[in-house]
Amino acid sequence: MIEIQRHASAALMAVLRGRSLSHTLTALWQEHPELASQARGAIQDIAYGSCRWLGTLRGVLSQLVRKPLQDAPVDALLLVGLYQLGWTGAPKHAVVDSAVRLCAHLGVRSAQGLVNAVLRNYIRASARLLEQARAASEVGRFSYPQWWIDRIRRAWPDRFSEVLDAGNAHPPMSVRVNLRRGSVESYRRRLHEAGIAHTPLPGVALRISRPLPATRLPGFAEGLVSVQDVGAQYAAPLLDLQAGQRVLDACAAPGGKTAHVLETAEVDLVALDRDSERLERVRENLARLGLRAVLAVADAGALSSWWDGAHFDRILLDAPCSASGVVRRHPDSKWLRRDEDIARLAAEQSRLLEALWQTLAPGGKLLFVTCSVFPEEASAQIVAFLSAQRDAARVPLHNFPRADGQLLPDEEHDGFFYALLEKRTPRGHKLDA
Ligand SMILES: C[S@@+](CC[C@H](N)C(=O)[O-])C[C@H]1O[C@@H](n2cnc3c(N)ncnc32)[C@H](O)[C@@H]1O
Repeated sequence: MIEIQRHASAALMAVLRGRSLSHTLTALWQEHPELASQARGAIQDIAYGSCRWLGTLRGVLSQLVRKPLQDAPVDALLLVGLYQLGWTGAPKHAVVDSAVRLCAHLGVRSAQGLVNAVLRNYIRASARLLEQARAASEVGRFSYPQWWIDRIRRAWPDRFSEVLDAGNAHPPMSVRVNLRRGSVESYRRRLHEAGIAHTPLPGVALRISRPLPATRLPGFAEGLVSVQDVGAQYAAPLLDLQAGQRVLDACAAPGGKTAHVLETAEVDLVALDRDSERLERVRENLARLGLRAVLAVADAGALSSWWDGAHFDRILLDAPCSASGVVRRHPDSKWLRRDEDIARLAAEQSRLLEALWQTLAPGGKLLFVTCSVFPEEASAQIVAFLSAQRDAARVPLHNFPRADGQLLPDEEHDGFFYALLEKRTPRGHKLDA
């Protein structure tokens, strides 16, 4: 217990200091290869859970200490201890005992009395303390920063608590069957044989009832299947792909949608990403799935650095965004982001949209996607683009659950925004059939 608590509270402290949780945990696994997979799983669960419920945990802690704690390791240790006591089935006396002993390891022996008192007082009055934390503020109730709550309320006044609560749920796991290596039916048989319960979703998606590591999926290494949220699986069918088309995936890494496009049709695909390390993930994914594309590290918006002047028939712009629609997969992100980031990200999205529009062939289609539930990165972005771009028209999304293109997160899928834009041909010109 003590090792798990030590690493989980160090990970939470890193997030509180502005570091991403996934980078922190990746570094931790590298530094401590001796940690068994069970211990890693426990550290990860506690670190993610503490981030998910940080707003509520702070509301509880503030009732148990007279003033905010100045000592960062003690603060993080208490938040983790409260999370373990309130949200996990860990034996309560073991949580307290280990936290008290950990103070000595952390060089804060003087905090032992405080840690002991706070955690024991929580055990005595947990229901009341939780209720008060939730009643005292919206941050305590929803466990998001206030600016995030305000944005969601403005955007979705009738559904705001539903959207916020969905962002705190444990994410579902869905997979995409690779039609180049089998069929949905044949893969379902493999799952049945392996005793993996699942349900069919639209298209080639299946929901796995109990999430498990991807490598435990039958045929994963041989490329029969990929893990991908079903909300992300709308992109390839919406692109209306035909064999032989020239397709650009402008922001491709880690390659989930790139691979789906290539599994759907025989197209010539150029996949760009400005992050070379992330582009390596695209390479690995395509290799596993037996797919091919031209990959390049580039800023998609700097056309002179990568574009040869040949127009694309289809463009997928899965733009960098706040990732507010997938916050349940990255609960640290709500504490790391700042309100002012949203305008900056929206400006970057419009820069990319405007630049890439020039590379689209007349009659071609560009699919704009974000995993956001903030309108600035979604509907408002498209309204602004269409008002400035005379040769652009928004076209309906076929077989998509919502006409406005906005998927809000729920028990089936994450939050995404989709808009399909067509480039009008110049007046008097006809396209070849
Ligand atoms: C939402 S992710 C893409 C997810 C990917 N399409 C998938 O389905 O797996 C956005 C990606 O855009 C990349 N990116 C951000 N700014 C970029 C730019 N100016 N040019 C190219 N790629 C960019 C990021 O490195 C990141 O990998």
